[in-house]
Amino acid sequence: MLRDAEPQSIRLADYQPPEWLVDTVHLDVSLHPTQTRVTSRLALRRNPKGTAGAPVVLDGDGLTLVRVAIDDQPVAGTAYQATPDVFTLPNPPSDSFTLEIETLVDPTANTQLMGLYRSSGNYCTQCEPEGFRRITYFPDRPDVLSVYTTRIEAGREEAPVLLSNGNLEKGGPLESDPSRHYAVWHDPWPKPSYLFALVGGKLAKVADHFVTRSGKPVELGIYVEEGKEKRAGYAMDALKRSMRWDEENFGREYDLDVFNIVAVSDFNMGAMENKGLNVFNDKYVLATPQTATDADYAGIEGVIAHEYFHNWTGNRITCRDWFQLCLKEGLTVFRDQEFSADERSRPVKRISDVRVLKAAQFSEDAGPLAHPVRPQTYREINNFYTATVYQKGAEVVRMLKTLLGPAGFRAGMDVYFQNHDGEAATIENFLTSFAEATGRNLSQFALWYEQAGTPLLKIQGAYDEAAGTYRLDVSQSIPATPGQTVKQPMVIPLAIGLLGPDGKDLPLTLGNSPLENGVLEITQAEQSFVFTGIPARPVPSLNRGFSAPVNIESNLCQKDRVFLAAHDSDPFNRFDALQGLALDLLKEGARAGELPSAEPLIHAMRRILLDHGLDPAFKAQALALPGEGEVARELGQDVDPDAIHTARLALRHAIGQALEEEFRTAYKDMTCEEAFKPDAASAGRRALRNLALDYLAITASHEGITRALAQFRVADNMTDRFAALCVLSQHDVEERETALTSFHDQFQNDPLVIDKWLTLQAQIPAANTLDRVRKLMAHPAFSLNNPNRVRALIGAFAHGNPTQFNRPDGAGYAFVADIVLQLDKTNPQVASRLLSSFRSWRQLEPARRDQAEAALRRVADTSGLSADVADIAIRSLA
Ligand code: TRP
Ligand code: ZN
Repeated sequence: MLRDAEPQSIRLADYQPPEWLVDTVHLDVSLHPTQTRVTSRLALRRNPKGTAGAPVVLDGDGLTLVRVAIDDQPVAGTAYQATPDVFTLPNPPSDSFTLEIETLVDPTANTQLMGLYRSSGNYCTQCEPEGFRRITYFPDRPDVLSVYTTRIEAGREEAPVLLSNGNLEKGGPLESDPSRHYAVWHDPWPKPSYLFALVGGKLAKVADHFVTRSGKPVELGIYVEEGKEKRAGYAMDALKRSMRWDEENFGREYDLDVFNIVAVSDFNMGAMENKGLNVFNDKYVLATPQTATDADYAGIEGVIAHEYFHNWTGNRITCRDWFQLCLKEGLTVFRDQEFSADERSRPVKRISDVRVLKAAQFSEDAGPLAHPVRPQTYREINNFYTATVYQKGAEVVRMLKTLLGPAGFRAGMDVYFQNHDGEAATIENFLTSFAEATGRNLSQFALWYEQAGTPLLKIQGAYDEAAGTYRLDVSQSIPATPGQTVKQPMVIPLAIGLLGPDGKDLPLTLGNSPLENGVLEITQAEQSFVFTGIPARPVPSLNRGFSAPVNIESNLCQKDRVFLAAHDSDPFNRFDALQGLALDLLKEGARAGELPSAEPLIHAMRRILLDHGLDPAFKAQALALPGEGEVARELGQDVDPDAIHTARLALRHAIGQALEEEFRTAYKDMTCEEAFKPDAASAGRRALRNLALDYLAITASHEGITRALAQFRVADNMTDRFAALCVLSQHDVEERETALTSFHDQFQNDPLVIDKWLTLQAQIPAANTLDRVRKLMAHPAFSLNNPNRVRALIGAFAHGNPTQFNRPDGAGYAFVADIVLQLDKTNPQVASRLLSSFRSWRQLEPARRDQAEAALRRVADTSGLSADVADIAIRSLA
């Protein structure tokens, strides 16, 4: 794991099929805190597609070998070579034989949280992408599919619950030692090693069941730490809804007798789709109205669905190699987004997905860490679980659906499932399925997987009154990204509308043919479209529903945007029109140091706020300004985060003052007397009410602050309590410290709630925040060993507090660099993700840029870095 020189690159172009296949795996795992014994029996078979005479080479990572046997005969130490990281059998006895290997691993010493480790005393595993090799020697690559049988043995007291993939075959106390017991699990579906999982510990089970649409019963279990059973109800409900949805929308049924989920409190990411045994970060399982916000509930629903949907997109059809990661991730994110859109409000879901896309992916694509949705090379695969692979990957699938229509898309998915079930597939296999189902050539579309960078569309509209035509001139360009300077034009599905003077959509006719689906297909660098039969100058509504993940520069003026905000039949573009108005003001405010008149924006906002036909959740999204990060990305260079913050504060103030009466009314109207329910409609009312509270608190009078403190005190749910605390935390008032202290005292025994308390303090835009964060690191609730705590405090500071991370004195950068170096010794994955907070350093104004670069260089020049941190440091500086 430790590097001597620069880590080596792996290239997609060098892919070779595996030399040896493993038909079955029999694992016998005897759990022990420091010396877990793993015996692995592999039925090896030479791959007919491999190289003649190739040796057996198995991956390992930090393993201690105990014993080797071939076809049940002990093997002399001279017949093989074994280091902690690789096992080689130079002269295999035949083309098909059984290899048995015994190794020892220490789960208690495993701080990386990859492989077999312990969380709150329980045993669990994380194998994707390359963790299985930390458990036993194996061809640890996704194109080796095997049927697994897993026997787990453990102390009955220490680990009464023993789980693995598939169905339970047998179990019970050991005859030889009744203080120990065992369980045997068998998974009939061939799978790659990254989907293996094992759990052992003291866990409470929440049980339910589901009957698939063909009548097959499935036992559902969610395992949580004892005492937390009551918090798993919403997750279970979301699971059952996901299972039904996948049947109804993709024709996909579940395929085992049991489906188990285990919630653990030490986890590097959100959750993991291990076959039949999903393992979750407990933050995506546990919720009660008193401890979880509406956003937490939505997150649980989305992640439960995501992992469940992987059963077909990821597990039944897996990836040939890690370059194809987006094959399962982009597609599965698309599926979970669609599920949430169906369960909640489709436009509101789209708006929040696009906010995430722009904040995380557009900024990644605009900096040194930009890479294609399917990368062509990597040094460390763990660094490619990115917003580009996940979120842009989902956008690419969404565009495919837009281009093919719902029926064509579904037909292509059916072909994909039909032709590749049980296989380790590629993006080519995926696209070919759609080509086959619809007859459409997708070779140009495939560029979305190959070319990094957010395309820029320049669009000019011109009305010809005499001819009654409207012409759109469209040009596309894709910015240069690392390793890619020359780009080809892509297929961009641009959903549009033309609004007549009455605000209604005009019929779209190109030449003589109606544009039925309202989607222009941009395929060339420069293209023009002429709409006929246009009676008056229209206002174009471009990229409706954010049909393509592109930036747009158009000749829409401020008046046009105000008009779109008021009338567009596409709710996303009503939202986007307001965002555009606000962005222009914020950019100008940040550049010039003085905010231009916000009157047109305020006028448009007032209309939205007072429109009784609109969903409160939509209003809350539409009236929330773009974040400071988005303004920075739009400015693109010479960024001064303080200037952006000041401009945004001034704009919030102007809006709050102008709409004070309206916000007061909205606050009152959205007040709910009933008990908390986590559904989308109630959440939307809370969102609007809490947005109103935020604007009320920003005006000069103290009324909003008093109101926020009152709400903080009387709230019967975490959404309202935490929203009030957020508002208070943004103001330098006595009430802030009062509320923070009381929140801490009330929730100090609840780590997931304490995370909120840490995050909020890390994001206070004040000069003493860095000191506060340093002090909080010494708080008993904080630990550098727990990824959730690190992300809540340090991650929130680095990624979510632009003025303080980017302090002009460089102390923010130095602090984060110090933590990265410290954390790299125990958990490289979490460390490298934290280091990616520097990724936009080149767009900063020169003084800060120098400071950020110095901190990055200090990290890069440290010896003994993990491959994870070294890779991010090197690419960030390149
Ligand atoms: N495949 C998982 C998902 O998207 C995420 C994942 C990848 C992961 N690598 C991981 C989770 C490492 C935990 C640790 O659902
Ligand atoms: Zn996933």
